[in-house]
Amino acid sequence: MQLNRKDLLGLEELTPEEITLILDTGDSFKEILERPIKKVPALRGKTIANIFYEPSTRTRLSFELAEKRLSADTIGFSQAMSSVSKGETLRDTVENIQAMKVDIVVMRHGSSGAHRFLAEFLDASIVNAGDGQHEHPTQALLDMMTLRQRWGTFEGKKVTIIGDIMHSRVARSNIWGLTKLGAEVTVCGSPTMMPPEVGKLGEGGVNVEFDLRRAISEADAINVLRIQLERQESMLFPSSQEYFEVFGVTNRVLEHAPEHCIVMHPGPINRGVEIAQDVADGDRAVILEQVTNGVAVRMAVLFLVAGGTFEESSLQ
Ligand code: CP
Repeated sequence: MQLNRKDLLGLEELTPEEITLILDTGDSFKEILERPIKKVPALRGKTIANIFYEPSTRTRLSFELAEKRLSADTIGFSQAMSSVSKGETLRDTVENIQAMKVDIVVMRHGSSGAHRFLAEFLDASIVNAGDGQHEHPTQALLDMMTLRQRWGTFEGKKVTIIGDIMHSRVARSNIWGLTKLGAEVTVCGSPTMMPPEVGKLGEGGVNVEFDLRRAISEADAINVLRIQLERQESMLFPSSQEYFEVFGVTNRVLEHAPEHCIVMHPGPINRGVEIAQDVADGDRAVILEQVTNGVAVRMAVLFLVAGGTFEESSLQ
């Protein structure tokens, strides 16, 4: 089975079968990460450029590691070190990179839609590592991989996403991916953190709940979002302390969730703002498991956009 598309721009445009193919391939590649020699020749001879116009720790390192595990050649830069700081346009920058015969461009950019714009005229594959407030598809894929490893299926499962839904590309990608595969999604936050017509997001819509305890009362998993102060033109709540009092996920709040409910966070974590220290480090948290799965699922995405098949991934 093949992906049959050159780019990964977001989960909104993927079919349930395509999302499942990526998750299956990610599971197949995860086994490689357990080996003493964690390297296969799957992308030998391919060149990948990692260009990050916004800060990143997890996504950037995870993509770089995924590329090395697949034996690809890699180059990369961040905005401060590039000619963008001298006024070069995004299109010129990426066309120059392509002229150096790069096969795949992994990019994070602050503008929603930057990747779609580039994908229309580039021959190289474009992989979205986060675009503005739009999508962060590989984050949602690693979240879904973590959930599927525990549940086996998304059908009938309930996921509550808590926080600043309006500014969150992680929330949007999770909503598309989870609803396409049959999970029920509830979003929770203050009304100031909800985009217009939030209930219509995803395949068939999401539940909207402003009371945290009610929002998690039937959840099989909760995904706690980072408060993105850098994207808020004005504060959407009076102070971090007051946000924590109303929407902070603490052990006391979790008493209102089913005992089996797990806690996810895409990172970076603001301890004491959206999540309490003892919850982030507690038994319900799967946050570091998410990070491990991130490498495997990014290996899958890179391999599949380069034309690889699921069957070949299991032979590596
Ligand atoms: N989750 C995530 O995107 O983290 P980084 O911003 O560190 O890449």
